[in-house]
Amino acid sequence: MDERSGTGRTARCCPDRRGDWARLRDARHEAGEEGGRGEGERERPIRRGGDCAVLSSRGGQCLDLPHPADGGAPPRSDRDRAGRGGVVLRQQGLGLSHRSGGAAHQGALPPQGAPCAGQPLEFGLEPHEHRALRDRGDGGHRGRARRDLPRLCGRARAQPHGRSHHDVQGGLLLSRRGPGAGAHLGGRRGQGHPPPGRAAPRGLLTGAGDRWVSAPETIGVGLLGLGNVGRGVVRILETHAREIEQRLGARLAIRRVLVRDVERPRAGVPEGATLCDDAQQILEDPKVEIVVEVMGGLMPARDYVLAALAAGKSVVTANKTLLATHGEEIFAAASRARVDVLYEGAVGGGIPIIRTLREAFASDRVQALSGIVNGTTNFILSEMVGGGRPFEAALAEAQARGFAEADPSSDVDGRDAAEKLCLLAALSFGVRVTPEEVYTEGIRDIDVADLKWAAEFGYQVKLLALAQRHEDGTVALRVHPTLIPATALLANVTGPFNAVLVTSLAMGPSLLFGQGAGSLPTGSAVVADLIDAARNLRLGVRGRVPHRATGDAFIEDLRPRPMATVETANYLRFTVRDQPGVLGRITSVLGAREVSISAMVQKEAAGGGPVPIVVLTHRASDAAVAEALCEIDALPFVAEPTRRIRIEQDPPLVR
Ligand SMILES: NC(=O)c1ccc[n+]([C@@H]2O[C@H](COP(=O)([O-])OP(=O)(O)OC[C@H]3O[C@@H](n4cnc5c(N)ncnc54)[C@H](OP(=O)(O)O)[C@@H]3O)[C@@H](O)[C@H]2O)c1
Repeated sequence: MDERSGTGRTARCCPDRRGDWARLRDARHEAGEEGGRGEGERERPIRRGGDCAVLSSRGGQCLDLPHPADGGAPPRSDRDRAGRGGVVLRQQGLGLSHRSGGAAHQGALPPQGAPCAGQPLEFGLEPHEHRALRDRGDGGHRGRARRDLPRLCGRARAQPHGRSHHDVQGGLLLSRRGPGAGAHLGGRRGQGHPPPGRAAPRGLLTGAGDRWVSAPETIGVGLLGLGNVGRGVVRILETHAREIEQRLGARLAIRRVLVRDVERPRAGVPEGATLCDDAQQILEDPKVEIVVEVMGGLMPARDYVLAALAAGKSVVTANKTLLATHGEEIFAAASRARVDVLYEGAVGGGIPIIRTLREAFASDRVQALSGIVNGTTNFILSEMVGGGRPFEAALAEAQARGFAEADPSSDVDGRDAAEKLCLLAALSFGVRVTPEEVYTEGIRDIDVADLKWAAEFGYQVKLLALAQRHEDGTVALRVHPTLIPATALLANVTGPFNAVLVTSLAMGPSLLFGQGAGSLPTGSAVVADLIDAARNLRLGVRGRVPHRATGDAFIEDLRPRPMATVETANYLRFTVRDQPGVLGRITSVLGAREVSISAMVQKEAAGGGPVPIVVLTHRASDAAVAEALCEIDALPFVAEPTRRIRIEQDPPLVR
């Protein structure tokens, strides 16, 4: 309803308003921040980060703030007010109209006991205006601003906890001006809501000084899965609610949670959320604006994620299997829907490696990365070294302590690390690869004896995920047990911890270390993404950073390098019968393929049984070493297949 028609109530302000405006102007003038009352100031006395703030209040007095520089004369129209950054507060009889850039949205009836006129309100000051007030030394900018600004209807921060802009009645609703903004702030997502593909600025509440000045809005979240990670997400949201609200300027509320079995008694169900076993209830709920997928697996997770994106909801996921397998499809769908897919929890648990590669290395050129990205295998290897236990016993210990799944094959066979490496390689090099293109070898064949021999030579054995850019336009991607010097950075990463060492041109080596899995570490990464997605939602932006750091139009034309051509040094343990000429045959086969030896140890036979011969080689092509071992293992004196573990330095040599 437009007061110009005469049907709305007359604009009213507090009695001292004009004096307040004058004082504010004086303060700014005294601070020398404005060149008096020039045209600029006349045009934009109250600005919010350069955008107009449109405020509506229901249930209180009807207010329209004339532009102070107009001497109280009402503006000609809403558009006029908005266009010059003025503030519009209005109440209309029975309904609420949020007007923003011409969009209008009807709200509900004002409640009983809604805020009344006379409540102090702090808003609309530029930071320098606050500084100016504060610098006058008259009790701080907050008190001063309270006195100096008009006393308006509405309570800036007195909203009952847990209410959002959607359900707050009688509070202030702030919106940036822009298409659909009013609708976003309205009581429902109705006709004013922008269609998918057209992001609408949200109620971005800028602070007066460093504080939020209006009741925070609530952003609805749907959680797919309430297992280890899901419970961690809930716990982080609950225990860090205050910090999150302060950082985001809004609340994140889990509205619905998907599980397989709703009847099963379970802990960790978020307060106020509904458990369901039908994903449609989440995907079709307009109050769910961001979907968090922490259910795992490929199906039905893929379908749910795609459906959420198609419905215009941003998605946060910790599911590396899903992204390594269906990443192309999912990221393309997100781009089409103009929403975000964020996945910090998918690699390295709580370690912020995704964000680091996507954003912090935007200015650099990553040459290589090597990572311990699977905590299960790192725990097992640490147990084997520290406790001298064989692989099976160490695995059982990992399972007993919750570090390994009942079916550990994805971890111990290296598949999990390969999936993570695909995501890291895409972020580092812009290369699109599938886990099948990653050379992958697990730790099942690692023997305690190898770990002891490695230690004798001054090495540790780790399951590393390695990616390296080569000048010939290839990128070598591999996951395998690796000997690294005991003094190397990654050698000291033990137990279930993860670490990723990035080597880049400008920065050189840099290391990220931390808990690579677990409910709270992974939950914290997921919630950080949630905050990011919510920030984007509120700002009406998406795709601020491409999903995989490089836009699809600029994908590097790098090819996976065939493993046969990758060069590494090697640890070789031969098990042979103790007879003359053995050593000579072995060295000649290696030499024939240009695999040169850098160190060798042969121990005496105990009781006439087979003896180990341990050889370290210089760098040689993978194919050459493999062919040599094939030939050697076929020799009559060889008692067991030769054990081979590749050797890398730390950081890996960049060639
Ligand atoms: N665990 C970690 O430390 C960790 C670390 C990094 C990343 N991740 C990733 O995070 C994701 C979740 O892992 P998690 O360890 O939390 O798994 P989890 O403990 O097995 O929990 C899975 C949850 O999803 C629900 N769920 C699974 N399939 C479902 C279906 N078809 N319909 C409805 N609900 C379904 C389960 O419901 P019920 O409760 O009814 O069975 C359960 O609540 C995985 O992608 C994993 O790779 C995990």
